[in-house]
Amino acid sequence: MKVLVTAGPTREALDPVRFISNRSSGKMGVAVAAAALRAGHQVRLILGPVAIQAPRRAAIVRVTTAAEMLAATKMNLRWCDVLVMAAAVADWRPKKVAPLKLKKSDGPPRIEWEATPDILKSIAPLKKKSQVFCGFAAETDRIAQEAQRKLRDKNLDVIAANDVSKKDRGFGSDRNALTIYLADGRVRRGALETKIKCAERLMDVLEEIFAQKKK
Ligand code: CTP
Repeated sequence: MKVLVTAGPTREALDPVRFISNRSSGKMGVAVAAAALRAGHQVRLILGPVAIQAPRRAAIVRVTTAAEMLAATKMNLRWCDVLVMAAAVADWRPKKVAPLKLKKSDGPPRIEWEATPDILKSIAPLKKKSQVFCGFAAETDRIAQEAQRKLRDKNLDVIAANDVSKKDRGFGSDRNALTIYLADGRVRRGALETKIKCAERLMDVLEEIFAQKKK
């Protein structure tokens, strides 16, 4: 399979020295890319600003903003059989980026925000029937409902939901517990395990769905 993975956070500038982002470390998405490589698949990885090492055998595209991630995803979309959107895209950006450093002496800035593009929603109309799209849902509450809403709204085949309110899993941790929701209604609940194990389990599900679509 040809597997396109997005991973890490995105970052939006406020001024030349400041930005807004989120706590994503990129570990989950990088583990998905590594699991796909180990399973013998070709991998392209679109990576936001992260401190961790990316798998050497993946083709890597580095991006910073949500707009750059959208452009890189569109550019590689026709190539892939499977898309895994593990990136934690920053949902908001300032309407205007201050060209000069905002000075403390001017007081707290009034920033007008606008939404960044929703990457999965924008590419949904471009999806081919044979392609498998997988999203991630980072939730703190009402996890099942929110994951299933995103599965429908973003036209996905699979969504992997994780609880990001706990210290022992999710953002920044080496461990995670994924509940995988499939568009046909099936649910696969995973225990708390390493992100490497979570990624392997997710890869098995993606291979199965891809094989079903090809029939
Ligand atoms: N996502 C995306 N573009 C965005 C935001 C999210 O493509 N601008 C993708 C993520 O990569 C993930 C999925 O959508 O695969 C769900 O992301 P999440 O942050 O959980 O959901 P949101 O759509 O931001 O919804 P909410 O803020 O209501 O939780």
